[in-house]
Amino acid sequence: MLTKKLLIAMMLVLLLAAGGVQAGGDAARGAELASDCAACHGDDGKGDQDMPALAGMDAAVHAKKLADYKSGAAEGEMADYVGDLSEQDMNDLAAYYATLPGN
Ligand code: HEC
Repeated sequence: MLTKKLLIAMMLVLLLAAGGVQAGGDAARGAELASDCAACHGDDGKGDQDMPALAGMDAAVHAKKLADYKSGAAEGEMADYVGDLSEQDMNDLAAYYATLPGN
């Protein structure tokens, strides 16, 4: 009886965890949006000596950086490229780059 309760509890935790990942961002959609970023940050998101790497960046960190450029809290050339991005776009982009292997 106890084992069964434990199993149900574990399943609930797993279900919640899966839902949480989805709410973060859609990596497949992010991959499509990322064609606008590749010219500077590279097809593999690894950047170069002048461009910061995006590949492997934590999704929450990445989404926050994009939001900061959009709000004006962060400044730089990047600020010109976030104006059209919705919050969902930023989360999707961040989810996609988090799936790429970093340096
Ligand atoms: C025209 C070139 C260009 C394009 C296009 C571009 N970026 Fe950038 N990005 C930069 C530069 C340059 C920086 C370095 C900071 C600065 O000068 O603004 C940067 C910085 C960043 C940073 C901060 C990196 C860090 O480690 O702090 C993130 C995140 C980022 N870009 C994401 C993106 C995403 C996502 C896209 C596509 C929507 C994109 N960039 C498109 C040039 C570009």
